[in-house]
Amino acid sequence: MWSAGSAGRSMPCGSDAPMPEEMREPVTVLAVSDQIDQRIYSSSIRSRMDDVKMVIGCGDLPARYLEFLADALDKPVYFVLGNHMEEWTRDPQSGKPYDPMGCVNLDARVIADRSTGLILAGLPGSPRYSGEGGQQFAEWQMALKIGRMLPRLVRNRLRRGRWLDILVTHAPPRGVNDRDDVAHRGFASIAWFLRRFKPRYHLHGHIHLYDRNELYRQRYHTVEVINVYPYQKLTLDCERS
Ligand SMILES: [Fe+2]
Repeated sequence: MWSAGSAGRSMPCGSDAPMPEEMREPVTVLAVSDQIDQRIYSSSIRSRMDDVKMVIGCGDLPARYLEFLADALDKPVYFVLGNHMEEWTRDPQSGKPYDPMGCVNLDARVIADRSTGLILAGLPGSPRYSGEGGQQFAEWQMALKIGRMLPRLVRNRLRRGRWLDILVTHAPPRGVNDRDDVAHRGFASIAWFLRRFKPRYHLHGHIHLYDRNELYRQRYHTVEVINVYPYQKLTLDCERS
C-alpha cells in the first residue's frame, strides 16, 4: 500500500508478487525538485524527518542540496539530472562534470534499493527547446534511454514479479501535469513507459507550481503521477490487502 504523506491518501501496491516479510514495513520517501526549500535545507531536518528511508531528486537542484540531504539524513539519495544540470560540479582542472557525492545518478538505470527493496528507474532532462546537447532530448533520444533499461526491467519482472516500483524523471509524461510550450511539454515516450511497465508511482519535476490550488498529482492508467515541486514526503506501505 502506498500513501502520500502530505495528502494522507493511500492506494494498493502494484506488485503481482508477494513481498518478503521484511519488505512489508511502510517506507517513507522524501522527493525534492527544482528549488531549494528552506524547510528541507535546514539543520533540523534530521529530527523532523527521521522516518525518511530514501531521498529522490527529480532534477534542477544544486549538488550542494543533494549532498546536504545525503549527509544530514544519512540515507540513500537517488537523482536524475534536470535540463539545467545544476547537479553536476565541474572539475576545475579537467572541466569534466561529476555527480553529487554520496548520491546515485539514475540516468537510464534500473536500481533496486538494498535497504527498502524498492525498484527505481530514472530518465533525465527535458524536451529539446534550445540548441543541441546538454540534457535536452528529442523523443527518439528519450526512447533510446528507455531501451537501455529494458534488460534490467525484464530481469526484475522475471525474478521479482514486477518491472519496477518508481519511475523518476525530470520532465512529465505527455498530457499529464505538463504544459503546452515546447520546453515544458511532456514526453510521449515516458507516457508509453508508464502504460507498458506500470510503476506504482511516477515522480517528476520541471513544472513549477506557484498556486497551492494547482493540480500536482494525477492518475494515469494505473500510475500515480506526482509533480514533487518543491518537495513531497511519501509513505510506502506495500502490504497487500
Ligand atoms: Fe527543468
